Amino acid sequence: MNHTNDQILELFEAELRQMCTPEEPELLYTPIIYSMSGGGKRLRPVLLLLAAEAFGGSAADAMPAAMAVEVFHNFTLLHDDIMDNAAVRRGKPSVFAKWGGNVAILSGDAMLISAYKYLACLGGDKLSRVIGIFNEMALEVCEGQQYDMDFEQAEKVSVVDYILMIERKTSALLSGSATIGATLAGASDDDIKKIYRFATELGLAFQLQDDMLDSYGDEALGKKIGGDILEGKQTYLMVQAISRATDQQREVLRTTHQRTDLSDAEKIACVKAIYDELDVKHATEQQIELRFERALSVLDSLSIASERTLHLREFARNLMGRKK
Ligand code: IPE
Ligand code: IPE
Ligand code: MG
Ligand code: MG
Ligand code: MG
Repeated sequence: MNHTNDQILELFEAELRQMCTPEEPELLYTPIIYSMSGGGKRLRPVLLLLAAEAFGGSAADAMPAAMAVEVFHNFTLLHDDIMDNAAVRRGKPSVFAKWGGNVAILSGDAMLISAYKYLACLGGDKLSRVIGIFNEMALEVCEGQQYDMDFEQAEKVSVVDYILMIERKTSALLSGSATIGATLAGASDDDIKKIYRFATELGLAFQLQDDMLDSYGDEALGKKIGGDILEGKQTYLMVQAISRATDQQREVLRTTHQRTDLSDAEKIACVKAIYDELDVKHATEQQIELRFERALSVLDSLSIASERTLHLREFARNLMGRKK
């Protein structure tokens, strides 16, 4: 019988505890340990391992790839917090806030290299295929991150542009993880395409939810509320609000984050008041539900017996219950 989500998470955490880094230079390696042990949900490695097992592969064989995607993910967070000027990550100071931008850049670079070191440990005949998937995924994340920054300056961002951006910055890493797991397990090309689609839709739902939590989440759970508003980010909430707004509201939505006469709390309250007037929270929830349903329906179309997809369904459900 395949491992449950909790068991897979435990296997992965056990593997992470074995991770060792040199002691020096301290300012290169301490931030890596801080990041890797900082309370991440481990979604990508768990998805990779669940996908491998769903197609009859072994979690142990896929473990180096699971380590690679988690280290890569944490690398993206170190650099993301520099780009987003974010002081808080997982309820604690970000590496950027704690040690500064230079440390976050270089420790991040070392993590990227470390991800490839894990990949190089993969046995079997699938290494070159997996590296191909990994590279494509990694470049897509970079593209998504650049669009995310471009959109901060853009006059108008359409819902379609926004979805294409998050498909790269967030879904790519989830779909890449699922695809690597399925590939290592020897799934058919058709099933690989489907599991990729499943994780893409789930990733969209996940980022939409991340946008929502950034404005409406619970600070006690480790999210700093309002960071996206203060940075002038084009989130789903903002894109929807701008498309529904009157000229006057649109002006407020576009300019509030740059005002020097308001405190951060006032800026956040001002934008959220318009979000509430335009009911964009509800619109976002509907979009999350739609993407989640699409993800589940792709699972129905896989060639494997439906019992084999049970743990992937549970993974999807857990993801949707996310509060942090
Ligand atoms: C954060 O991802 C970055 C996004 C894509 C929204 P997670 O929420 O999966 O990060 P951790 O690792 O669990 O903190
Ligand atoms: C995350 O987007 C995407 C990547 C880190 C690649 P966000 O910037 O929305 O993620 P959080 O909210 O900082 O975790
Ligand atoms: Mg970002
Ligand atoms: Mg960010
Ligand atoms: Mg976010």
